[in-house]
Amino acid sequence: MSTAERLRAALVERLAALGGLADSGWCEAAGAVARELFTGAYFLPVAGSVPTAYRAVREGEPGWLEGVYSDQTLITQLDGRIRPDEVTEAAVTGSPSSSSTLPSLVLRMWDQLGAEAGHRVLEIGTGTGYSTALGAHRLGDARLTSVEYDPVVGRAAAAALGAAGLAPRLIIGDGLRGDPGGGPYDRLIATCSVRYVPLPWLHQVRPGGRILVTLSGWSYANALALLDVTGPGQATGRFLPGHTSFMIARPHDRPPRPALALLPGEERPSRIDPAALDDWTGAWVAQLAVPSAERLGAGAEQILWDVSTGAQARTAPRADGGWNVVQRGPVRLWDRVERAVRRWQDAGEPHQSEFGLTVSGTGQRVWLGTEDGPSWDLPI
Ligand SMILES: C[S@@+](CC[C@H](N)C(=O)[O-])C[C@H]1O[C@@H](n2cnc3c(N)ncnc32)[C@H](O)[C@@H]1O
Repeated sequence: MSTAERLRAALVERLAALGGLADSGWCEAAGAVARELFTGAYFLPVAGSVPTAYRAVREGEPGWLEGVYSDQTLITQLDGRIRPDEVTEAAVTGSPSSSSTLPSLVLRMWDQLGAEAGHRVLEIGTGTGYSTALGAHRLGDARLTSVEYDPVVGRAAAAALGAAGLAPRLIIGDGLRGDPGGGPYDRLIATCSVRYVPLPWLHQVRPGGRILVTLSGWSYANALALLDVTGPGQATGRFLPGHTSFMIARPHDRPPRPALALLPGEERPSRIDPAALDDWTGAWVAQLAVPSAERLGAGAEQILWDVSTGAQARTAPRADGGWNVVQRGPVRLWDRVERAVRRWQDAGEPHQSEFGLTVSGTGQRVWLGTEDGPSWDLPI
């Protein structure tokens, strides 16, 4: 047994021990696919660095293979261009733009998708091709189409899939358009996140089919949704337990912005503890309330900045233990966040899995509890 085979078998054993998979075939797929073919060199975060710096781990260097067979996301590109096999510095900074998702999450998502033999599946975000390889191995090459936005990334994935002896259909293009003319699909799985569900997906997945996608936004709060397509252009479903996040689809990312300049505004006491936004679901509820705002800061000192209107809100602690908020611009960002967070708090601060999403011809609505509960429109 080679070192890679031994490390792979040990990883699969650990993944199986996590439990929770309805279909053990996904663990078998992880045992059959050599992840090192897909990751090549990768970046690992430098512990304690702010902003996060990354060091490159090159193919064949000590620890490389152990990293490949650890249950962690391996970043393979920064800022849409920086590759780990090209950097010469000891550490670099940048925004992750492509990766091999951690194997436990890949397996869990394939399992949650409920793809069955004979299903046609569309994957958005090929990345390194590792999740594509698992899908192709389990479902068959002819059943899987995968779309990657970045041509360099897409070509590397095609080469890796070929080296692994797999040949799913690959498209280089904008996955938010799905696979025009290629449907109907039974399942769609996205391994990049979106601000709203792209309408083409809702016409390319047949009624009765399913979409598994992470909803995110410009404050980088994330929630994984499993949707049933109920008719052409219509879907409904709930958010799933856990804490899943993905890099945002490139066309859905926020526009570039200048350096932050905090400006004066109207000041008043805050009706909520701003630290509520540090909670996983609290941050997401705030993002639902002000989807065009970016959240900066933390704890008592939150900053919201809506790049499309220039509106700002910032909170600060008071000596008496309370908090003040300063707001300016055409949208009172904190007023909206307060209302949303208080509704969530009144409901007992439930996790995202108590929320659902309904998509119809009139819009996309996230609701709390039931479809007629408090709701927020997604920014389509
Ligand atoms: C987290 S990585 C994918 C991980 C991959 N499935 C794996 O297991 O290796 C997200 C990928 O989505 C791609 N992406 C971003 N926006 C996209 C879009 N609009 N259409 C298709 N792919 C997109 C990125 O370039 C990146 O490669």
